[in-house]
Amino acid sequence: MSHEDLLKKVNEYREKSIEGGGRDKIEQQRQKGKLWVRDRLNRLLDPDSFTELQWMRTHRSTYFGLDKLKYYGDGVVTGYGMIDKRLVYVYAQDFTVLGGSIGEAHGEKIARLIELAIKTGAPVIGLYDSGGARIQEGVGSLHGCGRIFNANVKASGVIPQIAVIMGPCAGAAAYSPALMDFVIMVKSSYMFITGPEVVKAALGVDVTFEQLGGANIHASTSGVAHFITEDEDSALALVRKLLSYLPSNNIEEPPFIQTEDPVDRRIDEIYEIVPTDPVKPFDVKKVISLLVDEGDFLEVHEHYGRSAVVGFGRIGGYTIGIVANQPAVNAGVIDIDASNKIARFVRFCDSFNIPIVTLVDTPGFMPGVDQEHGGIIRHGAKVLYAYSEATVPKITLVMRKAYGGAYIAMGSLSLESDINLAWPTAEIAVMGPEGAIRILYRKELSQAPDPEELARKKLAEYRETFANPFRAAELGYIDDIIDPALTRLKIYEALKALKNKREEFLGMIPKKHGNIPL
Ligand code: HXC
Repeated sequence: MSHEDLLKKVNEYREKSIEGGGRDKIEQQRQKGKLWVRDRLNRLLDPDSFTELQWMRTHRSTYFGLDKLKYYGDGVVTGYGMIDKRLVYVYAQDFTVLGGSIGEAHGEKIARLIELAIKTGAPVIGLYDSGGARIQEGVGSLHGCGRIFNANVKASGVIPQIAVIMGPCAGAAAYSPALMDFVIMVKSSYMFITGPEVVKAALGVDVTFEQLGGANIHASTSGVAHFITEDEDSALALVRKLLSYLPSNNIEEPPFIQTEDPVDRRIDEIYEIVPTDPVKPFDVKKVISLLVDEGDFLEVHEHYGRSAVVGFGRIGGYTIGIVANQPAVNAGVIDIDASNKIARFVRFCDSFNIPIVTLVDTPGFMPGVDQEHGGIIRHGAKVLYAYSEATVPKITLVMRKAYGGAYIAMGSLSLESDINLAWPTAEIAVMGPEGAIRILYRKELSQAPDPEELARKKLAEYRETFANPFRAAELGYIDDIIDPALTRLKIYEALKALKNKREEFLGMIPKKHGNIPL
């Protein structure tokens, strides 16, 4: 055979691989409003930058009719390409091949790709569209799934991992995104461990796909999804945007993006937005968008744990991770969901050299039977753990209320935050004035001829003592009390001062890893 003939044969195989489950199935996908797997990759990556690997690999199972089927690529397209001229590794499941199910070869292909991404220090992106473990392959498919999980865990904290859910993501398929850093769900997609049919059989409960594991549920209730998008195109655009804030691996700095927005821009609007009375709410997102370059803030977990706000922005071109209490939602109290959201975000930033800027205005951890029984002690402890463990630059600004354990948890100096700022409206105390005087003067108040008058007097005294940043500054817990209008500049200066911060988190005895309360 000539070289030409041989290459023709290669191309024939390649075309078969590209066809996946066949034209009919591709058309069925289109009719469901879903993009073809190759179109997804084209839209995600820089033009003509994709190189496919293992496009010929196929299953070797012979059960339940698989002996008669041969799908080159085995239902997942894997390879590498560029996003904004930076190398990324990517895998995309093809639902047209056996429902994107994960067989032995499918799983091994993904795991191997992730391992390559780790070795080369490049982010990995997974596009999910799968019915879960491939039933026909038995233990082989479970092994394939396990190999993916194992690779995801090895990659955790080494390279950023982003999952995009573009169709079903069922059974074992769902655990891989859960092990990655960010999960983006297209509105029409869904994720569950067992589907509605199994729920009906096992529990006798009727539930729809949407109610069980739709994107809205995972973005707001379970917290599995960090982002939700209207359609596939916006999900793929979001991957590109998210990556613009992140380094490619844990030994790189995040990208520096030159900005025209002056770092010394005054933000006088804060005087209008933030009431000096700590009981009155305001929207912390308005403050954040004033602080960051060009008002550009990428919020993570927008619909989950809403009494806290976390996300990425830049100041003077440097990526920062922002963690803020949200006084507009339950006064900024830290509940179980907010604890999980904050702790996970802080740990992500710490893994990838992203300085953490914390904006504090919280009355404390959420009280109540539900929260206590749900484990607020255990979940709140994650926030303490994450901040204490983080060695990236930590800059904290107490805006208004900072009471009790929540003061400590929100990046306080006690947990080795590096630079601690306060606005003149800051109040740092063991608890809010009303609660404090009821405990301190319970006896006196019950015996006083005019308890209201006594309460007013004691409240005024408490406020005078603690409802300000001055005692904390005298004791050295606050480094600087700043004019709110200069906050952007002050944070920028702190970032510059901490730029070369190097710190190892080591005790007397080296540890393998800590045991974060999960
Ligand atoms: C093999 C599968 C499959 C699977 C789907 N298919 N899931 N083949 N193994 N896990 C095949 C179907 O047989 C069908 O083949 C094709 O994919 C398309 O599926 P449809 O059902 O026609 O599509 P749709 O109506 O869109 O429904 C999609 C779906 C449904 C909701 C995902 O297929 C489904 O419920 N699949 C099973 C989901 C599940 O329970 N997975 C758990 C697996 S166990 P043909 O040839 O007809 O086109 C697992 C281990 C558990 O993962 C581990 C727990 C952690």
